[in-house]
Amino acid sequence: EMLEKGGFEHFMLKEIYEQPRSIKDCMRGRIYPSEGKVQLGGIKEFAEKLKNIDRIIIVACGTSWHAGLVGEYLIEEYARIPVEVEYASEFRYRNPIITEKDVVIAISQSGETADTMAAIEMAKERGATIFGICNVAGASIPRLTHAGVYTHAGPEIGVASTKAFTAQVTVLTLMAFYMAQQRGTITESKMIELLTELDHIPEKIQKALESDKLIKEVAEKIKDSRNCLFLGRGSGFPVALEGALKLKEISYIHAEGYPAAEMKHGPIALIDEEMPVVFIATQNSSYEKVISNIQEVKARKGKVIAIVTEGDTEVKKMADYCIEIPDANEAFLPLLATIPLQLLSYHIAVLRGCNIDQPRNLAKSVTVE
Ligand code: AGP
Repeated sequence: EMLEKGGFEHFMLKEIYEQPRSIKDCMRGRIYPSEGKVQLGGIKEFAEKLKNIDRIIIVACGTSWHAGLVGEYLIEEYARIPVEVEYASEFRYRNPIITEKDVVIAISQSGETADTMAAIEMAKERGATIFGICNVAGASIPRLTHAGVYTHAGPEIGVASTKAFTAQVTVLTLMAFYMAQQRGTITESKMIELLTELDHIPEKIQKALESDKLIKEVAEKIKDSRNCLFLGRGSGFPVALEGALKLKEISYIHAEGYPAAEMKHGPIALIDEEMPVVFIATQNSSYEKVISNIQEVKARKGKVIAIVTEGDTEVKKMADYCIEIPDANEAFLPLLATIPLQLLSYHIAVLRGCNIDQPRNLAKSVTVE
């Protein structure tokens, strides 16, 4: 087993460190930066159909659902198609309105999640076209869908999903660009610019991993907390949700992810000197607004841990701890900002003596509803 872990203490840590590689594998043969083109062979036969669809419905569970929320931002921003993101378990038991002009994207690492499978079957019966985003080749979900794109992240052993999540986000980024290309909602020069940057994201992920030692020190400071809040805006919101889920899964600390602006509508009541609040405070369109949310937390003596853009000076004046990630176009921030949150929950869980790769009560794939 030690050999399988490649010298890492846990599969989860190995999988976190594999991300520069797994993201590269996920993009291989799919992006052509100098031509400004994305090719997705798996959904090519639907290229024409994508020009006329009315809506996209993303269905998934857990971490894959968080990837779906990032996908919503990207698809709406670049392809200008309305997107709804649904928990598969809720969607399957409603009586949703689905038409032949809808595309349903089912996201699943394992390809075996019972609720996601049932949601696909229901949408298929009602005439929708179903795309899958899956990590396990030949699993049940890819067999149920009309078309799809594999994430190619390699086997994920740790129950807490890490590299599969970033690969799902990468595929959704590619899908958003591909749809934009089909529908003419993006210029060739913009595409060249975005794809050139995306091509270098694996190196930036490598750079983000270099904060590991600092993150371990932060983990030491907050490891005994009973609760933790994760806040972000825009596509930083699903990153916050995912950070909170990772922490609860492996460290058993109660954690909540919220859109930062919603803090005022309830969670602010929880803030005192005992409450660590993790902010996604990178330099993007919501930066100034996040800063004012940080001030609100500091005014109530909360402990602020901020994920910031390299070279940041503003947030550093306020936060108790800052963890830097490389600067990037807003479209790629979820990929980078997720890395320190994975490491943070990993180190906290190790310090608390938890079972990292097989947390209590959890299964790698949930094949019963
Ligand atoms: C992730 O850390 C979780 N263990 C869990 O939420 C998982 O993402 C969910 O069960 C969905 O699994 P799937 O991607 O294999 O469908």
